Amino acid sequence: MIDPTIVPDPKPFLETVPLFQGAPERAVEVAASVVRTRRFEPESVLFREGDAGDALYLLAAGLVKLSKVDLGGHEKTLALLQPPEFFGEMALLGHATRSATAMALSPVSTFLIYRDDFQRLLNSYPQVSLNLTTTLANRLRGMDDEAQVLSYKDAPGRVAYVLLRLYRSGVVELDGGTALVRLTHQDIANLAGTSRETVTRALKALETEGVIVTRPKEVTIVDAQGLEEVLHEVR
Ligand code: CMP
Repeated sequence: MIDPTIVPDPKPFLETVPLFQGAPERAVEVAASVVRTRRFEPESVLFREGDAGDALYLLAAGLVKLSKVDLGGHEKTLALLQPPEFFGEMALLGHATRSATAMALSPVSTFLIYRDDFQRLLNSYPQVSLNLTTTLANRLRGMDDEAQVLSYKDAPGRVAYVLLRLYRSGVVELDGGTALVRLTHQDIANLAGTSRETVTRALKALETEGVIVTRPKEVTIVDAQGLEEVLHEVR
């Protein structure tokens, strides 16, 4: 953590956060009056799984990784988040601990809303509560899809799914018709719930099919439609 300060006017950013979509202007004004900003260096941990949670995080800049470590010590990446997504709400609902670790993958800038202020916003503005529920429902739907893919698909199918998820969520650099994923094979393995060696073999297979091109620490998606077909092939 580098610099906890109060920002002059967080309103323009807050208006873009899904939590406040369609909410009355007053809800955004109230949020703007209570947020605190915190910045984090790349590779620093915002919070760890199991910590007590006291604030909701709204991501204003940078890339954040949410992950858990399984009983065998393997890391599973749950999500890569970018602005204007929010996270850290679960520990505030029912006084649970943090369900995952949040790490900055780049310089990160966040706005925090502390527990009591968050509760007041939920109690006062039904649209904010509804937006929160919608986000949780979308997350559950994503997890259901992922559970299905990760249990029934072979390695190229699983890796195709992970690459498409990154592509659709915008965590890629777009260059004309291609999309660049700047992740190592280990990063992709952590997302796909498999080993680095398996990912390396799966990427080679996908490259042979002509849907991606690989270079060290990057994968270029040259044919997203083709990746989709790999995902839906019965193998
Ligand atoms: P919390 O448990 O407070 O801290 C970790 C946060 O990660 C959690 O709140 C959610 O905001 C977020 N989170 C947990 N699981 C997932 C998931 N499967 N996909 C996206 N975000 C998640």
